[in-house]
Amino acid sequence: MARWRGALRDAFVECAILDPHPVAVSDPALDALMLPFAEGRIARVAGALFLGARAGAALHASQWPGLACVQAFRPQAQALERAGFEVRAEAEPGRGRPLVLVLPPRQREAARALYAQARALAGAGATVVASVANDEGAKSGKADFVRLFGPAASLSKHKCRVFWARADGAGDDALAAQWREAEAPREVAPGWWSRPGVFAWDRIDPASALLIAHLPATLAGEGADLGAGNGVLAAAVLERCAGVRGLDLYEADARALALAERNLAPHAARVRLGFRWHDVAAGVPGRYDFVVANPPFHAQGRAPRPELGQAFVRAAAVALRPGGELWLVANRQLPYEQALADGFAEVRTVVQRDGFKVVAARRAR
Ligand SMILES: C[S@@+](CC[C@H](N)C(=O)[O-])C[C@H]1O[C@@H](n2cnc3c(N)ncnc32)[C@H](O)[C@@H]1O
Repeated sequence: MARWRGALRDAFVECAILDPHPVAVSDPALDALMLPFAEGRIARVAGALFLGARAGAALHASQWPGLACVQAFRPQAQALERAGFEVRAEAEPGRGRPLVLVLPPRQREAARALYAQARALAGAGATVVASVANDEGAKSGKADFVRLFGPAASLSKHKCRVFWARADGAGDDALAAQWREAEAPREVAPGWWSRPGVFAWDRIDPASALLIAHLPATLAGEGADLGAGNGVLAAAVLERCAGVRGLDLYEADARALALAERNLAPHAARVRLGFRWHDVAAGVPGRYDFVVANPPFHAQGRAPRPELGQAFVRAAAVALRPGGELWLVANRQLPYEQALADGFAEVRTVVQRDGFKVVAARRAR
């Protein structure tokens, strides 16, 4: 058994080397963002801030001394660290930056909130520059940007649009406040906090609901929730399973994790709780009696990434103690069977309904 577990760990290490989060060789929006600097149209200055920062071939630490990168998604934050940048999950408030770079997310409200944040953090006369792919809302993104910053210069390249302006107080203060507020954390149900942009932010995801409906009350000891979001599965475990002594929540999105910490605070007096900003695809450090998960099946892009969920299954198999159990829910068509069979000697489909499957797996190899 020990030999099998060792082999599985080696396989896992190999898989981590394959890296479910490779840094994009080509990141058109980042490539385009760097262009006005490469062409000398905007000067690189010390003390610049990069919101929604991503690592990539076009971004060289040697050209950007002191660049403060902000990235809430752990795998991307780690890629930036590996490339030599200083990264925070959240921007430090209050410092007037001379230059702010922005790679906004696809979702319009979240992009608007990021422009408003850039405006709040830019010093007087600072340049704010953003880049958006044409098929991810470049036109509307530029229109939003102009509403906050006034007329913007722009260029088009790599099927992206780059636009920039000086933060000189032009634009609409009230609108900026409104856009920031629209993305702020709020109480969506009594005692339950969430915010736009995190997974299933204002509802319980139907797959998670199916898992919750079938979770046994007998889960006990030390557990982990892999890809914990704002804590909905963890909360169900803590409410139902009186024998749980400790629960670690692993989540890549720092904003979701902060919400989970707030949502689970009422349980903290009874149970040891851990909140880990962590890339589960790289494995988890603890050893557990049970694991629950509704794994992600795409990263931050639109394309399905079943290898991410498979990496979660492997992480669970390695992390479980002998006798430990994995309880997982997934879209029915997702190809997790091989990873489950490789990781566990006993795999049982508990229920299939509405396009989802709940799987319980035991005897990690
Ligand atoms: C399908 S959602 C489930 C969220 C929550 N458990 C629920 O049931 O509502 C998957 C979660 O995994 C997170 N995630 C994505 N990639 C991750 C990674 N590499 N490591 C850890 N968490 C990740 C996402 O941010 C998201 O919150």
